Amino acid sequence: MKTTRIISLLNQKGGVGKTTTTVNLAAAIAHAGHRVLVVDLDPQTHLGLHFGIDEAAVSVYDLLIEDETTVEQARLNARPNIDLITSEVDLAAAESELASKTNRHDLLKQKLDAIKSEYDYILIDCPPSLGLLTINALAASNELIVPMQAHFLALQGVSRLFETVRLLVDGINPNLSVSGVVLCMFEGQTNLAKEVVTDLTEFFESSRGLSLPWSNCTILDPPIRRNVKLAEAPSFGQTIFDYEPECAGAQDYAKLAQSVMEAHQHQTSQVIEVKSTEELSDPISHDAQ
Ligand SMILES: Nc1ncnc2c1ncn2[C@@H]1O[C@H](COP(=O)(O)OP(=O)(O)OP(=O)(O)O)[C@@H](O)[C@H]1O
Ligand SMILES: [Mg+2]
Repeated sequence: MKTTRIISLLNQKGGVGKTTTTVNLAAAIAHAGHRVLVVDLDPQTHLGLHFGIDEAAVSVYDLLIEDETTVEQARLNARPNIDLITSEVDLAAAESELASKTNRHDLLKQKLDAIKSEYDYILIDCPPSLGLLTINALAASNELIVPMQAHFLALQGVSRLFETVRLLVDGINPNLSVSGVVLCMFEGQTNLAKEVVTDLTEFFESSRGLSLPWSNCTILDPPIRRNVKLAEAPSFGQTIFDYEPECAGAQDYAKLAQSVMEAHQHQTSQVIEVKSTEELSDPISHDAQ
């Protein structure tokens, strides 16, 4: 049975690389032959612009607010193997409109549940806040990836974010785990960057074996180096692989996608193992096929 990995790219801090990572991770994963849906949950509407798409007749706002609107109506094809659900500026108003709905935490999940089997990956680009839109992303996801910068107090920011996530997911989505952090705009030669990597590594190691959403979290490899091509590509409506496929930014995101997909292969082989054990111990269902 295929499992769709639904991954939210989350950090309440602005400008850390969430959208850049969503776009280019999606592009690299799609290039490897997987079906990907990307969802823009940020009223800034940057994700569509990165793909060269600035508006759609039906946005994620309509999807969340109108019961009858479906993903089939909202999605556009952005690239081979990549579908996109765009945002719109009005989405900022959705926070208050959603607040009056009884199922306000699960609206996105319910819509995605209907179509998720069509995709190998669904990547959700979150706004830099922890309001109802982000809670919808967390409720719909099975994984989080946290793009961040190796700044002063980075560890404090991440541990505070994780604690907030723990409070938010309690009762909403107990299956959610933090897969990793991605260091964006990384300048590995600086002492600060080295210190942040050491601090984060120690923090994650100290969480192993504990019953925490981040107990298996790692610093995903490689860090994404600061590369001006990554900042230029969106103004042409292009992914880094469209714009400059040989540059350092493209190389880093291609390798990052490999790291993310390897975790997938690991998960898939576990699923296959479980399935074959079930089949062996259940000759009736085997015969019935
Ligand atoms: N590795 C990089 N090298 C150089 N510039 C980068 C890199 N990653 C991101 N940027 C630039 O940094 C800025 C912030 O990146 P991005 O928009 O991806 O962050 P964000 O977390 O999605 O921001 P927001 O919280 O506002 O949604 C953008 O101008 C982007 O082009
Ligand atoms: Mg963004």
